Amino acid sequence: MKKVGIIGWRGMVGSVLLERMESEGDFAKIDPYFFSTSQAGQVGPLIYNATHTLKDANNISELADMDIIISCQGGDYTKQVRPELEKVNWRGFWIDAASAKRMDDDSLIILDPVNRDIIDKALNDGIKNFVGGNCTVSLMLMGIGSLFQEGLVEWMSTMSYQAASGGGARHMKELLTQMEVIGNMAKPLMDGPILQLDQNISNLLKSNELESDCFGVPLALNLIPWIDSGVEDGQTREEWKAFSETNKILGRSKNPIPIDGTCVRVGALRSHSQALTVKLNKSVDLKTIEDMIRNFSEYTEFVENTPEATREKLNPRYVSGTLKTTVGRVRKMHMGDEYLNIFTSGDQLLWGAAEPLRRMLNIVL
Ligand code: HSE
Repeated sequence: MKKVGIIGWRGMVGSVLLERMESEGDFAKIDPYFFSTSQAGQVGPLIYNATHTLKDANNISELADMDIIISCQGGDYTKQVRPELEKVNWRGFWIDAASAKRMDDDSLIILDPVNRDIIDKALNDGIKNFVGGNCTVSLMLMGIGSLFQEGLVEWMSTMSYQAASGGGARHMKELLTQMEVIGNMAKPLMDGPILQLDQNISNLLKSNELESDCFGVPLALNLIPWIDSGVEDGQTREEWKAFSETNKILGRSKNPIPIDGTCVRVGALRSHSQALTVKLNKSVDLKTIEDMIRNFSEYTEFVENTPEATREKLNPRYVSGTLKTTVGRVRKMHMGDEYLNIFTSGDQLLWGAAEPLRRMLNIVL
């Protein structure tokens, strides 16, 4: 059996990855080794009732003994360790959740329901680095990948509503702590005048009393239209990824489809949503579009454009903890017959992060 080293399994993405690998029986197909940057020699996770002693994630020769390495440890680790493995001529497969190597020529961004053909070609060509995409990009493509595959998209604008989990476990806890403090303040005021309640909560949000180390400002009862660092032309890196990663996944980096928009952090816990404006390059009737979306993959769920279905399914509450990407509010816009309005939601930690990694492991195996 192939030796598979797993690094960063304790974090948010790594924890979800282990959970998925266990429930899908992936560990029965491999000889797993767990690495840690700080706790080598200690007891690692319990997998099928067996404990694993942690190996040192900074020990290059131990790493080089693996056939496959899956890293959820973050970009700094990738930048530090991947070149060292190259130096010792390691020829194994590097499967990574971090963005550090995504745009490198010797790496492929993996999302097999969308680009399995490109993955297979890369394997044939000897590519060894396979990197999960940005969560918003992967979820968007799991929703409307068929429109791209059919070559129908001239350009697209995407406005995201991204959950706290995109920042990691600490960010999720910070949001929940803020909600708890707000709830405690509101409780005794609920039977009083509404303006008093509003004023007190508003003052709390503007004070420094809510713990906001992760997000910089309170996220609860608020939103933040800035995710990650800034790049050129006033874009954020998250917005830049929508364009660059989508086109790389589709194998169109040399002939890219224009994609741009605004990425917004909202107080959802682990699922991202996006409002999409798609400019088609020709007129296609709505029924055909709906069928394309419906038939794209077993993980794509089309939601009828009704208030009941939308409220029930087109949101983080419905998709969280599932592999479903819901796609709804599909309609032609008043700008013209070639303009589509679409809304989509998906779990940021599953198809948005862990799932493409474990599926790539299975493809490699
Ligand atoms: N960058 C994403 C976010 C996370 O902050 O929501 C995962 O790609």
